[in-house]
Amino acid sequence: MVLWKGLIEHYREYLPVTVNTPVISLNEGNTPLIRACHANDIITEDIELYFKFEGANPSGSFKDRGMTMAISKAVEENSRAVICASTGNTSASAAAYSARARIGAIVIIPEGKIAMGKLAQAMIHGAMVIQINGNFDDALRIVKELVARHKFAMVNSINPYRIEGQKTAAFEVCDQLGSAPVYHAMPVGNAGNITAYWKGYKEYFGQGKIKALPTMLGFQAAGAAPIVRDAPVPDPETVATAIRIGNPASWSGAVAARDESGGRIEAVTDQEILSAYKFIASKEGVFCEPASAASLAGVIKLSHEGFFKKGDSVVCTLTGHGLKDPDNAIQLSEQPIKVSADISAVEEVLKGCCI
Ligand code: F0G
Repeated sequence: MVLWKGLIEHYREYLPVTVNTPVISLNEGNTPLIRACHANDIITEDIELYFKFEGANPSGSFKDRGMTMAISKAVEENSRAVICASTGNTSASAAAYSARARIGAIVIIPEGKIAMGKLAQAMIHGAMVIQINGNFDDALRIVKELVARHKFAMVNSINPYRIEGQKTAAFEVCDQLGSAPVYHAMPVGNAGNITAYWKGYKEYFGQGKIKALPTMLGFQAAGAAPIVRDAPVPDPETVATAIRIGNPASWSGAVAARDESGGRIEAVTDQEILSAYKFIASKEGVFCEPASAASLAGVIKLSHEGFFKKGDSVVCTLTGHGLKDPDNAIQLSEQPIKVSADISAVEEVLKGCCI
C-alpha cells in the first residue's frame, strides 16, 4: 500500500517548497472525481458530467489545499500566529492546520452568517474567533489593516501560497481524467479558487501534461455577483453564505481566467443554487454545501441556453461538504415522521409506501 502523503509531497516539484520547509499536512488532496449518473435528468445535451468532491478534504473543503501550503510557509518563516477573514471554510481550515502546527490562529467572521459546522470547527480547533457586526468584505478590510500593523501571517487567498496549494486541484482533475475537461465549472466568491485552477491548468499545459486547456465557467450568487455586474456589491446577500462576498480580493485573477480561457462568469439565483444542491444530494448521493452547488446550477442554466455539445466533459468543483451546513439541509427536506415506539405504528406509516 502506498500512503497518500498529502498534496505537497505529491506535487512537490510544482510548489514553492524546499527541503527546509516543514510540511504541515493532514494528507489533504486526492479527492474523488465522481461521474454523475443522472445528468440526463437536468442537462439538455448528452455531456459527461463529473463532480470534483472537495468536501472529502480533511476539514471538509478545498481550503485545505491552500492551507497546507500557507501554514507550512508561515512556520518556515517563524510566524507565531496566522489571521484570516472568512465566510467559514477558510477559518475552519486555518484553525485545523494551525492546531497541528502549534501556532495561534485568529479568525474574523461575519456574525450570524456562517454555517454552524464551520463555526464549530474553528472553535474546537482552538482558534480565537472574533465575530464582527459586518460582512466578509468588512472582515477582510480589517484583517488587511491588522497585518499592516502587526506581525501576523495572513492566510486569506491574497497569500500567494494559498493559490499555489489550490492549483493542485486542477492537476488532480487532469491526472484523474487523463486530460483537461472541456469545461471546468466552479462557484466564485473571493475568486481565489478560480484563479488557482486556471494557474494549475496553465502550468500543466506548459509542462506538456495536457494537450488542451479547459474553458473556465465561474458562478456567483445573484445577490453577490460583483464580477458579473462589473461593480462591487455593498450589501451582498445569498443563502450560499460561503460566497456572500461583494468585493472579491482576486477579482482580476477571475477575470483573467474567464477571458484567457474564453469562458464565462455568470450569476445563478438562490433558487437555482438550492435546486442543484438538492439534486446532487438526492439523485447523485453526494452531499455538498449550498455554495458548492452554484457550479452545477450554472451548468444547468447554460445547458438550457444550448451552450454544450454532445460528449463535452464538464467538471463541477463541489467545494465544501454538506455536513457543514445542516440547517439548510433540514429546512429543504421532508421532515422525519414521528410515531410511537411500536411496530404497528411504524407499519401504519409504511402502508402505501413499500409494503
Ligand atoms: N465554495 C465554498 C464552500 C467556499 O467556502 C468558498 C469561499 C467558495 C466556494 C468560493 O471560493 O473565494 O476562492 O472564490 N470561501 C471563503 C471562506 C471566502 O472564507 O471560507 P473563492
